[in-house]
Amino acid sequence: MSLVIAIDGPAGSGKGTITKIISEKLGLVNIDTGAMYRCVALACINNGIKLEEEDKIGEIAKKVKIEFDKDRNVYLDGVDVSKRIREKDVSALVSPLSSIVAVREEMVKQQRKLAEGLDVIMEGRDITTVVFPNADFKFYLDATVEERAKRRFLQNQESGIDMSLEEIKEAIEARDYNDMHKEVGALKRTDDQIYVDSTNMSIEEVADFMINKIKEN
Ligand code: DC
Repeated sequence: MSLVIAIDGPAGSGKGTITKIISEKLGLVNIDTGAMYRCVALACINNGIKLEEEDKIGEIAKKVKIEFDKDRNVYLDGVDVSKRIREKDVSALVSPLSSIVAVREEMVKQQRKLAEGLDVIMEGRDITTVVFPNADFKFYLDATVEERAKRRFLQNQESGIDMSLEEIKEAIEARDYNDMHKEVGALKRTDDQIYVDSTNMSIEEVADFMINKIKEN
């Protein structure tokens, strides 16, 4: 039987960092579903496809080959796009693009296929509710918008992405709104998720808390 740990939460809540730590400590395959939507957005940019062209975007979602390695690097049709997909243009396009139902259907299908027969930790917005509603463990990772903007700002500085703190906060607020108000696959809190507010917690504290929850059961 394979093990599935599902984590949802808003942008900048630390899902990526925490998922990486837990996957290494527990020996799980780590799947960043946001990166998959970002790859579709990048493929649209590369092919000059506009947000209004929903049919073409749906086709692109089916055609692209998205792969990960164990270090969370992401490959789009064989090219390492790990850094490119975090840039401003992709970040602005990805949230509205991820509201397109045909894109969501294809990504959910691919996500379930990627996890087949494996012990996985998967993070995103609809993993606990749509992709794996019967996951063994379901977490909702949260933090205040101010804290999340600060974290993303520091992350961007390390990667050489130039955005001011205020600009990041506004972009995160816009993305939160969009992600929480989608008709399909919206980010939601439910009673069966374990809620973790990481605002005043260190990365290690969050990882330890979640690992303890997993080991307790
Ligand atoms: O986790 P992230 O910020 O890299 O995600 C990028 C966007 O993709 C996010 O704004 C919403 C969308 N997304 C989604 O709709 N469903 C998921 N499971 C993961 C991400």
